[in-house]
Amino acid sequence: MAAVKLADNVYWVGANVHTEDLFEGIWPTPNGVTLNAYVVKGEKTAVIELVREWGGASLTLLQNLKSLGITPHDIDYIVFNHLEPDHTGFTSTLRNLAPKAEILCTQRGAALVDGFYGIKDNVRAVKTGDTLDLGQGKALAFTEIPHVHWPETMVSFERSSGILFSGDAFGSFGAFRGSIFDDEQPTVNKSYWEAEMLRYYASIVATFSPHVLKAIDALKDIDVKMIAPSHGLIWRGCPQAVINKYLRYANYNKDFAEPEVCVVWGSMYGNTEVMLSAVLRGIAGEGVPVKVHRVPNEDASFILADAYRAAGLIIGVPTYEYSMFPPGRYILELFVKKHVWYKKVGFFGSYGWSGGAQKDFDELSKNMHWDILDPLTFRGYPTPELLEKGEQMGVALARQVKEILPKTRDEEY
Ligand SMILES: Cc1cc2nc3c(=O)[nH]c(=O)nc-3n(C[C@H](O)[C@H](O)[C@H](O)COP(=O)(O)O)c2cc1C
Ligand SMILES: [Fe+2]
Ligand SMILES: [Fe+2]
Repeated sequence: MAAVKLADNVYWVGANVHTEDLFEGIWPTPNGVTLNAYVVKGEKTAVIELVREWGGASLTLLQNLKSLGITPHDIDYIVFNHLEPDHTGFTSTLRNLAPKAEILCTQRGAALVDGFYGIKDNVRAVKTGDTLDLGQGKALAFTEIPHVHWPETMVSFERSSGILFSGDAFGSFGAFRGSIFDDEQPTVNKSYWEAEMLRYYASIVATFSPHVLKAIDALKDIDVKMIAPSHGLIWRGCPQAVINKYLRYANYNKDFAEPEVCVVWGSMYGNTEVMLSAVLRGIAGEGVPVKVHRVPNEDASFILADAYRAAGLIIGVPTYEYSMFPPGRYILELFVKKHVWYKKVGFFGSYGWSGGAQKDFDELSKNMHWDILDPLTFRGYPTPELLEKGEQMGVALARQVKEILPKTRDEEY
């Protein structure tokens, strides 16, 4: 995708990436992902973020710079808001092409420039309050926002244009579909971005939600006119909308989730599935929105996003070799890692002789701040009495969830 102007002498020069590769080696990106890099030109030229070699991204970056009359030799500064290789993988090559370009990042970032790329020279560590004057009225001011999501993270603010280059904060999965700006999205694209933002948040950022809230607080005195993250939409029309979204997401694991239920289930021979149908009947009767995911058939990141956002969670999996059906266990382990906390929860599953799935469930759920209904585990095929109990579990959970009103609301963009 060609370069796009954000403001006078400020351009997007990144890449729309469509590849089969998994993001972070785990998360599928069926809709692609963008690696947003930017250039700010004063008397000096700064590039903010690079790319990794992913589906031709580094060539696209060089072409985009060239279209603005910038060769690698013209680059004076490379600014890294954080050092994850999706934004820095091109560093070694660019250092050869642009040996005089100075790399700017935090102190902790400098250790990673050395660790990943063996580069020590011409690296400047910056901290909160430092600025980089580019001349002709352009300057970048830096604010550290550690642990959103790596420890060395900062943001860069260009004062004359009011653009906040926010790194992965306020980022999203999903390739651009025409325009890079929020205020040029047709209505049909809004649900696309909402889904991809939430899936990105749940998979990449959720564990660090308290740091997201701290970062939003640290940025509150900056007069931001545009938010330019390192992945996904650039928020020009309503930057507050993405801040509100991230506030909402950061609170989903603090008992502020949406009044809906996410059901995760798996079954080898159908016994657990029979109970699933009864539970779903109970939920449906209460008219509560429900998302149903089968493991291992569905990818974890889509399940994570729905589980993270829902106030209610139901897990139905059988026993497998004295413990939980492994794909269900994997999802639960991810829930633990990604802090899918403060949910109303139900658990059920079939076993053959001794059981074991519930022992795993009890162990994995113990620090999750979950409010758990009486678990429903049963030998073999569920009896009519048990199915009645399953339906009641669905009703009870749905009723609890209905009592929750969404406590935060988005501003439209
Ligand atoms: C590979 C495998 C391992 C199993 N391990 C156990 C076990 O350790 N303890 C147990 O009580 N049942 C065990 N079972 C029996 C299942 O839990 C039982 O068949 C249950 O009804 C399966 O539920 P489903 O029909 O929903 O798949 C195992 C079954 C299979 C196929
Ligand atoms: Fe990152
Ligand atoms: Fe990233």
